[in-house]
Amino acid sequence: MKQIQDFKFSGYKWLNYSTYILTLKTDESVAGLEPGNFAELQIPDAPGVFLRRPFSILDVDHKKNTLSFYIKIVGKGTRQLGKLKLGDKVSVIYPLGNSFTVNGTQKALLVGGGSGVAPFLLLGRKLKKHGVDVTFLIGARTKEDVLLTEEFEKLGKVLVTTEDGTMGQTGLVTQHSAFTDDFTFDKIYTCGPDPMMKAVARIAKEKGIDCEASLENMMACGIGACLCCVTETIHGNKRVCTEGPVFNTKELVWLI
Ligand SMILES: Cc1cc2nc3c(=O)[nH]c(=O)nc-3n(C[C@H](O)[C@H](O)[C@H](O)COP(=O)(O)OP(=O)(O)OC[C@H]3O[C@@H](n4cnc5c(N)ncnc54)[C@H](O)[C@@H]3O)c2cc1C
Ligand code: FES
Repeated sequence: MKQIQDFKFSGYKWLNYSTYILTLKTDESVAGLEPGNFAELQIPDAPGVFLRRPFSILDVDHKKNTLSFYIKIVGKGTRQLGKLKLGDKVSVIYPLGNSFTVNGTQKALLVGGGSGVAPFLLLGRKLKKHGVDVTFLIGARTKEDVLLTEEFEKLGKVLVTTEDGTMGQTGLVTQHSAFTDDFTFDKIYTCGPDPMMKAVARIAKEKGIDCEASLENMMACGIGACLCCVTETIHGNKRVCTEGPVFNTKELVWLI
C-alpha cells in the first residue's frame, strides 16, 4: 500500500560525471516492493522545483530500511538531489505503479538504455529467483555511460552496445547480434528512451514473443489525479503512474 515517509539522506555512489546512486534511510520499516515500482521524491531546497520527481526503485534493504535510486542529472531537480548532506530529509511517496510480470518466462532479455536500466536490478533478482535464464542488453552512447554491469553480472549474462564502439558491439542496442544469432528468448523487458522501446517492441512483435515496457512519461501528481501522464492503449487512455508504468507492448498504440 502506498505511503508517504520521511527518509534521510544516507549516501551517494557516483557512477560517472552525471549519474549517481542515491540511498535514503527511514526509521520505519520499508514497505513491500515489486520490480517496476517507482517512488515520487520531494526535492528539498530547489528553487523553481515544486513537483515531486518520479524515479524507479533501484534497490531496497529491508534490514537497514533503505531505498536506493539510480539518478541521471537532466535538470534542476536531479541536480539538487545530487547535493544532499547527511541527515537531510527527503519525503518519499512509494511504492507507486504496477510491476513487471514473470509468469511462464524461461529465457528473458532485459533491454535498457540510459537510466532505463534502473528497474532491472530488482527485476533480474526476481527472475533469477524464479529460475529464469537472464540476459541484460545495455545500450549507451559511450563506455562511460555503461553502468551497473558488475551488479547485473551477478544475475546473468551482460551484453553491451555503444554508439561510438568504445565498449561491446558498435551501434544501437537493437542492432546487437543477440537479436539475430540463434534468438531463443521467450520474453523481452525494456526500459529507456521511447524510440529504443519502440524498436525493441517491433522486434518482439516480429519474433512473436511478449514484451513489457516500463514507460517514463512526464508526471506531476504520480497518483492518478492529474491525467498528465496518460498513454494511448488499445483499451483507451491509461495513466502511466497508476495503470503503468509497465505495459505489455501489444496494448500500446504508439509502440505497435
Ligand atoms: C516512472 C518513472 C521512472 C523514472 N525512473 C528514473 C530513474 O530511475 N532514474 C532517472 O534518472 N530518471 C528516471 N525517470 C525520469 C526522471 O523522473 C526525470 O529525469 C526527472 O523527473 C527530471 O527532473 P529534473 O527536475 O532534473 O528535470 P526537469 O527540469 O524537470 O527537466 C529537464 C529535462 O528533462 C526532461 N524530462 C523531465 N522528465 C522527463 C521524463 N520523465 N522523461 C524524459 N525526459 C524528461 C525535460 O523535458 C527537460 O528537457 C523516471 C520517470 C518516470 C516517469
Ligand atoms: S502523474 Fe498525475 S495522473 Fe499520472
